[in-house]
Amino acid sequence: MTTHKIPVIPGDGIGAEIIEEGRKVIDAVSEVDGFEVEWIEYPHGADHYLKTGELIGEDTLKELKKYKAIYLGALGDDRVEPGILELGILLRLRFYMDQYVNLRPVKLYEGVETPLKNKTSKDINFTVVRENTEDFYVGLGAKVDKGKSHTKLDLIRETYNVKFGIDVETDADEVAFQLGVLTRRGIKRIVKYAFDYAVDHNRTKVTSVDKANVITHMYGMWRKIFSEVAQEYTRIDTDFTFVDATNMWFVKNPEWYQVAVTPNLFGDVISDLGAMIQGGLGFAAGGNINPEGTSMFEPIHGSAPKYKGMNRANPIATILSGGLLLEDIGLRNSADKLEQAVIEVLKEGKVKTYDIGGKAGTSDMGDAIATKVKGL
Ligand code: IPM
Ligand code: MN
Repeated sequence: MTTHKIPVIPGDGIGAEIIEEGRKVIDAVSEVDGFEVEWIEYPHGADHYLKTGELIGEDTLKELKKYKAIYLGALGDDRVEPGILELGILLRLRFYMDQYVNLRPVKLYEGVETPLKNKTSKDINFTVVRENTEDFYVGLGAKVDKGKSHTKLDLIRETYNVKFGIDVETDADEVAFQLGVLTRRGIKRIVKYAFDYAVDHNRTKVTSVDKANVITHMYGMWRKIFSEVAQEYTRIDTDFTFVDATNMWFVKNPEWYQVAVTPNLFGDVISDLGAMIQGGLGFAAGGNINPEGTSMFEPIHGSAPKYKGMNRANPIATILSGGLLLEDIGLRNSADKLEQAVIEVLKEGKVKTYDIGGKAGTSDMGDAIATKVKGL
């Protein structure tokens, strides 16, 4: 029997509860499909940070890099200043592992209500492919005071470096600036991934979501490279929508989208909207993928500290993220089985969590899906 070793970081808030259900369902799938999972638990998150001062160290990162996929609950805690855990653990992991794809399926399942009038599961079924390592997420910027200043900003990555030296001379009181960075290689690989994903998942169209009309340098280059890559995929249609209009179309005509590929920040913004039209954050799964390295799977929602320990959160986003994980480690049939179990439990509508008007607990939903897996 093959054993898959999977590091798991439950994290903060509801993280532990939802991850437990995700593990439960994957364990059920492994039983049925005849493979084994060995879970290797890591304590990183708020408690660990407050106790030890460690966010996530180089040694841990090196160790984690040996595995194919990591399963993550959620990060963020009221006791820690906003951003510390998110940047220090989540983004650190994404960048360290060069997880350049943030895959976010937006799928309305039967039995789940969308706030969009007259739209059904046939209309809402697309995937956001968000670039996950560059753009305005590189963390380069500064706030300078009146007068003259010189700021050195270095983007140091394993595969490339970009060093900026910025001279500012200003008579304004305070000036803040933040650099977005895109590289040809960075754009090319994410756009290629989106097209390959389309081919692989029987999709016929890839849409670029950008803002090339205003942020001309960065997203002009994005569009140019998108068009170059598109030429290699003659069977896939292409489209361009500006990010502001995309918000409108997600609400008005979500059926126009199949695969939407977009830079990091826009991807962050539109995927929360995507989550809402698919019935809420409780259904929005995500994967941070490095196709050649270590990927990491997590729901796109946060740690919801206020529901911690209440057995109340909907674990489906985490469970579906577990399905993406299975697909990533080469178990596509098992991934399909997991999703099928979710589909059937939702369609039956007997077990419903609070977010969709029911009274079932986090663990009830996990139990129902795990039982369904075994009965498929
Ligand atoms: C997400 C989150 C993160 C992001 C935060 C927590 C750093 O919003 O996964 O979408 O901005 O990418
Ligand atoms: Mn987000």
